[in-house]
Amino acid sequence: MIYLDNAATSRFKPGCMFDEMFRQLSCSSNPGRGGHNDSIDTAIKIYDTRQLLKRLVGGDDSYELIFTCGCTEAANLAIIGYLTSFKGQNCEVIYTSYEHNSVARPLWHLKETMGVKLIEITPDKNGHISSVDINNAINENTRLVCVNHMSNVTGYVNDIEEIGKITKRRNVPFFVDTAQSLGHFKIDVKTCNIDFLAAAGHKGLHGSQGTGFLVYNKSLKLLPIRFGGTGTHSESLVQPDLPPDSFEAGTVNSAGIIGLGASADWTYRNLSKIVMNTKYLTSELIYGLKQIKNVKLYSAQNNGVVSFNFADYSSTDIGDYLNENDIAVRCGLHCAPLIHNRLGTAECGTVRASIGYNNTISDIHALLKAIEKLNYAKA
Ligand code: ALA
Repeated sequence: MIYLDNAATSRFKPGCMFDEMFRQLSCSSNPGRGGHNDSIDTAIKIYDTRQLLKRLVGGDDSYELIFTCGCTEAANLAIIGYLTSFKGQNCEVIYTSYEHNSVARPLWHLKETMGVKLIEITPDKNGHISSVDINNAINENTRLVCVNHMSNVTGYVNDIEEIGKITKRRNVPFFVDTAQSLGHFKIDVKTCNIDFLAAAGHKGLHGSQGTGFLVYNKSLKLLPIRFGGTGTHSESLVQPDLPPDSFEAGTVNSAGIIGLGASADWTYRNLSKIVMNTKYLTSELIYGLKQIKNVKLYSAQNNGVVSFNFADYSSTDIGDYLNENDIAVRCGLHCAPLIHNRLGTAECGTVRASIGYNNTISDIHALLKAIEKLNYAKA
């Protein structure tokens, strides 16, 4: 199969990730839950991975990293864990049309349960979210600004450094969803004034599914959204207030986390090669699609995510056709309905091809050839 669904889950995983996961699984033990050597060894590895990942995104001692089962849980923790403290007060949140449901749904949940007022910032015709619009939308009740770094539908990248300057100046915490961008871009929480960075392990960082993390500014009051055993203060029935453990109740995914440390380290050491390959293949794909009659393209940046439609076919029909031709893409709304509303594709969805490290130019040619063939079938 030609796998062009890397925005959903990257197919390529470096060998070091399998080695670390295998080592960990072969000698499974529960970190922070025992005084024996194996438990301590696992806890040390988890600690080292926490420090490594935090360092990769520029976090220092003023930031904490919480391991989660994915970017969705990281976004839920940041949004619900932070905003719950404002219950009974005026609370407004600014977000963009690019937000994935992992961000939009917890926000909607708080709108329904807490009366949080949500303000959507829409992109212009070029896909650009204006930092001036964000600045204008901020008022004394604004508690959080949420921005998707890279769209999982169009690949559009928002200027988080520029937006971070505004949120810092206006003194509003800044949440950034990096599910699609981390591992493709270097992101520095300090340079961008990010207070909450939600990350996926199984996409650009080439880790396994079931991994992710939240890096947050420790000066902000974050409440846990999951309760249970932490291995600390076990005599108390009240959730301890001691991060990171207080946010990681239950047994953590040790093998996934330790494997993620190895794969993220590999990714950062190979970042320029990864970016070069992605940019080259994306530009070839976009160029090729532009030459094909009846293709409507929704992506313009060479970031590895390309959405398009063909003639008046629904995206899922094209996806089924490509699947029959042994090509994997993702069709429909990609769990991001707001941007499809803006693109006018809420009914038909789009066909999304997304590029990974082990894709080659022949994969791109195969996809282009398959789409081109549809024109002959139509004629
Ligand atoms: N959010 C993932 C995607 O865009 C699953 O496909």
